[in-house]
Amino acid sequence: MLTFRRALIISAAVLTLLFIFRSSHSSPTQPQPQPLTADSLAKAEATSKTKVEQPARQETTDPPKAKPKETATWKGVGSAQINSKKPKTQISLDDLRKRPLRDQLEYQFPYDVDTKFPAYIWQTWKYTPASGDFEEIFREAEASWTVLHPTFVHEVITDTVAVHLMRHLYASVPEVLEAYNALPLPVLKADFFRYLILLARGGIYSDIDTAALKSATDWVPLDVPRTSYGLVVGIEADPDREDWAQWYSRRIQFCQWTIQAKPGHPVLRNIVANITEETLKRKAEGRLTKDTKNIVEFTGPALWTDTIFNFFNDPEYFDMSTSKGNITWEQFTGIRSAKKVGDVIVLPITSFSPGVRQMGAGEDDDPMAFVKHNFEGTWKPEAERHIGEVI
Ligand SMILES: *[C@@H]1O[C@H](CO)[C@@H](O)[C@H](O)[C@H]1NC(C)=O
Ligand SMILES: *[C@@H]1O[C@H](CO)[C@@H](O)[C@H](O)[C@H]1NC(C)=O
Repeated sequence: MLTFRRALIISAAVLTLLFIFRSSHSSPTQPQPQPLTADSLAKAEATSKTKVEQPARQETTDPPKAKPKETATWKGVGSAQINSKKPKTQISLDDLRKRPLRDQLEYQFPYDVDTKFPAYIWQTWKYTPASGDFEEIFREAEASWTVLHPTFVHEVITDTVAVHLMRHLYASVPEVLEAYNALPLPVLKADFFRYLILLARGGIYSDIDTAALKSATDWVPLDVPRTSYGLVVGIEADPDREDWAQWYSRRIQFCQWTIQAKPGHPVLRNIVANITEETLKRKAEGRLTKDTKNIVEFTGPALWTDTIFNFFNDPEYFDMSTSKGNITWEQFTGIRSAKKVGDVIVLPITSFSPGVRQMGAGEDDDPMAFVKHNFEGTWKPEAERHIGEVI
């Protein structure tokens, strides 16, 4: 029966969808979500004094048809170069469906490092902040994102709206939708959602229990060209102790509660393809269970971390000919400022985990503290992911 409450929820969902679809379909004459312009950058109250360890520039000896290569000299490892992408030709939908999933995703969501970071902030929760059911404990944190990013489009997507949004964005890649719908736990869907929305639309994803301490325009120093990177990640854990494996799944673990990306970034493409294939495989074998034990490896920070390291060591994106070995956790342990590998910025633990009082993290007022994670997402088995006070 269509009760008043249900009608209200449905109309709210429809309105939100309408809004999202409109802003995602806008033609060049319509106002786009405000990009990071020189103006908005100038407006940002203080420029960060911190420096990114910048890669040395090198002359490229490529044939002229290739775009200039982005060169990232990696301390102690050698140099790695982002390969420029091959030009695209038009493919019919039927032909596209026969291609590997990664190719389909690349075609649907092409990556261009030269574009601006879309000015979106994506969050998900059971209720929108407009609902009376939205928990008071999240209000201040949620508002901090809007306050510090007045020119951004800020969306808190409910589970119901997320289903419709995914159906809209991934209509042409049905395997992805099948996998999304098959995931048996909200926490798995929530993990998958962040990668999916960033792959398709880009911007910032941040968990509902995070507070913005600084505007994203200040996360990376202004002297690093915005067109030289397309993904910003932070370190979640850097446990420098022998028994680290008792506490964390990786020696260096990247967090996925806050991510900034340009649409189509290959790391997002790879993780979406991985989760899609893994889910459909488990579904076919009847192994998709509500077991919460391996979420970290299936969709969570362990998989996220592996996918990033695989990208750093992928000869498809980096020229390994002059590199002296793989990029591993050793290049990130103990870092106090941002590091850039190819088109990825890695922020130190203080940036997205200030105030944890361990693993070298600074306090909330540290100049490198950008996002505060409050670990209050009650629907997630956070205890499995974070050892908060234990270490
Ligand atoms: C997904 O990635 C993980 C970690 O790299 C890997 O172990 C797993 O085999 C991958 N799954 C698929 C289906 O590619
Ligand atoms: C480097 O990483 C690649 C891909 O992850 C792997 O196949 C290779 O064995 C690694 N090489 C070394 C020297 O560890």
